[in-house]
Amino acid sequence: MRGASILSLAAVALPCANAITLHKRDDPAVFGLPIARSERSQALQKRDSKVASTALYNVQNMYYMVNITVGTPAQNVSLSLDIGSSDIWVNVPNSTYCAADDDPCTSTGVFDLKKSSTFKMLDYDMNATYGVGSFLAAGPYATDTLTIGGATVKNMEFALAEQSRNPHGILGIGYSIATDAAANLGKNYSNLPEALVNSGAIKSAAYSLWLNKYSGTGNLLFGGVNKAQYKGDLQTVPVLPVYGQYRSLAIALTDISVKGTSGTKSYTTGLPLAVSLDNGSPLIALPQELLDPIFKEVGAGYSSTAEAAYIPCDQANADYNVTFSFSGATVTIPLSELVFADYTETGFPKNACLFGLSYSQPGLNLMGDPFLRGAYVVYDLANNEISLADANYDGGKDDILEIGTGTAAVPGATLMPSAVTSATGNGAAATGTGSTSGSQGTTVYVTGSATGTVKSGGATSTSSKGLAALPTGSPNLLPGILGAGLLLAL
Ligand SMILES: *[C@@H]1O[C@H](CO)[C@@H](O)[C@H](O)[C@H]1NC(C)=O
Ligand SMILES: *[C@@H]1O[C@H](CO)[C@@H](O)[C@H](O)[C@H]1NC(C)=O
Ligand SMILES: *[C@@H]1O[C@H](CO)[C@@H](O)[C@H](O)[C@H]1NC(C)=O
Ligand SMILES: *[C@@H]1O[C@H](CO)[C@@H](O)[C@H](O)[C@H]1NC(C)=O
Ligand SMILES: *[C@@H]1O[C@H](CO)[C@@H](O)[C@H](O)[C@H]1NC(C)=O
Ligand SMILES: *[C@@H]1O[C@H](CO)[C@@H](O)[C@H](O)[C@H]1NC(C)=O
Repeated sequence: MRGASILSLAAVALPCANAITLHKRDDPAVFGLPIARSERSQALQKRDSKVASTALYNVQNMYYMVNITVGTPAQNVSLSLDIGSSDIWVNVPNSTYCAADDDPCTSTGVFDLKKSSTFKMLDYDMNATYGVGSFLAAGPYATDTLTIGGATVKNMEFALAEQSRNPHGILGIGYSIATDAAANLGKNYSNLPEALVNSGAIKSAAYSLWLNKYSGTGNLLFGGVNKAQYKGDLQTVPVLPVYGQYRSLAIALTDISVKGTSGTKSYTTGLPLAVSLDNGSPLIALPQELLDPIFKEVGAGYSSTAEAAYIPCDQANADYNVTFSFSGATVTIPLSELVFADYTETGFPKNACLFGLSYSQPGLNLMGDPFLRGAYVVYDLANNEISLADANYDGGKDDILEIGTGTAAVPGATLMPSAVTSATGNGAAATGTGSTSGSQGTTVYVTGSATGTVKSGGATSTSSKGLAALPTGSPNLLPGILGAGLLLAL
């Protein structure tokens, strides 16, 4: 992101100065595209037999796919959408995965550079590791014309994954400083959200995600919000910087409450906590100390044999609502949405089903798909803010507003007062001096394994061992790890 270092200080010191501005326009600079859930091919499942839990593995095989085209004439490819990473990469005909006999990637499409007149090869390579080192995509960066949802971007940079263990590429739409090229080669480039702004397709690097819980489909809306798809007002909280930079879409979880017919109980052990909103992750993953009392309340448990949490299947019919609060911005998910009714597992007690809340690995706390299906989320990369509301599944006719630029008051979006504004970690280390000094917020540790102390308000300089616990050992890969959604099985 251009000027990221300036933004990072400004946004922390003056969280009210920047906020999404929504505009009703006759011809808004907004475009949407459908997304659809898809299952990974059987072939890959066979190759990846070391995964412990079949149920978890099947859940993890769900991807949210989008269709784009690359090249001139346009070649169709289906990519999995990933908010947790920032590069676009596609399979090529000789990608290691697609060149194997059992799955030539015909269903998802490969990009053949020889058939494009606008293709240009670049002289450096992407080498992205997802899922703690086991899931690799590597190959040269290149540029070509890309179309997405009716928008066209010329000379869009992306990578050709000659080495790929995946039947489809990835459409990463996170922060541009978190691309592999920026993080590892110092070759920052305008990734998709920024390129769409530069091309004039949208006004601001921001998008909204709505996953339709009933159908496995959804919509990704670049440059706007659709008021028909959420209930009430959008509530806005700041993105938490990592190492003093905005590189991962993490916000502070401040409370979980469980409302049953006999009352409401609130759970805050270890909170506030930085959590990443990650559509690539099949479960909500949070620390054991926070979840155990909730498990007790709803009859859930954890099986170390299956390496997964379970809940009595009939709790899908119980009347509980789980409310996740982020400095007062709330999203409520019925417990039934967290019970994976079709997924049982060896190691689970009789009549127990996979539970959508599970223990996190140290430093990797993820608000995955079960959360995102209940939420309408606006990712405002330009202002380093996230706006949330409960998703609406039958809101009627589209009511689309453009996200503009500027600092005017936000109709229909409220910035939460006294929001938690900074965190050390997300598995990473100290935020550095700039990001916490003078802030009114709370410094938050992300992980149980972090060292140091939690401080409230004022400047603090702390360190964490959270990331060191990860075999990859590189903070730059964290967004990719989060995004791959494979972590829980490894
Ligand atoms: C992608 O394209 C394929 C083939 O045209 C189509 O079957 C599928 O529904 C499309 N998916 C989305 C998410 O648009
Ligand atoms: C690409 O997808 C579009 C929309 O699904 C379809 O109309 C077109 O025929 C496809 N092109 C090729 C070459 O498959
Ligand atoms: C990518 O990185 C891995 C791990 O650091 C390394 O083993 C591999 O050789 C690299 N591949 C390429 C193509 O640079
Ligand atoms: C794929 O093809 C390109 C260009 O022909 C070549 O440079 C590359 O080494 C090939 N990759 C693999 C994995 O065979
Ligand atoms: C480029 O990316 C690096 C690594 O993510 C980041 O530290 C740096 O601030 C970025 N530079 C610019 C000009 O955005
Ligand atoms: C949970 O939410 C649903 C939908 O808003 C509501 O009908 C139900 O009464 C709630 N249950 C409890 C226990 O609050």
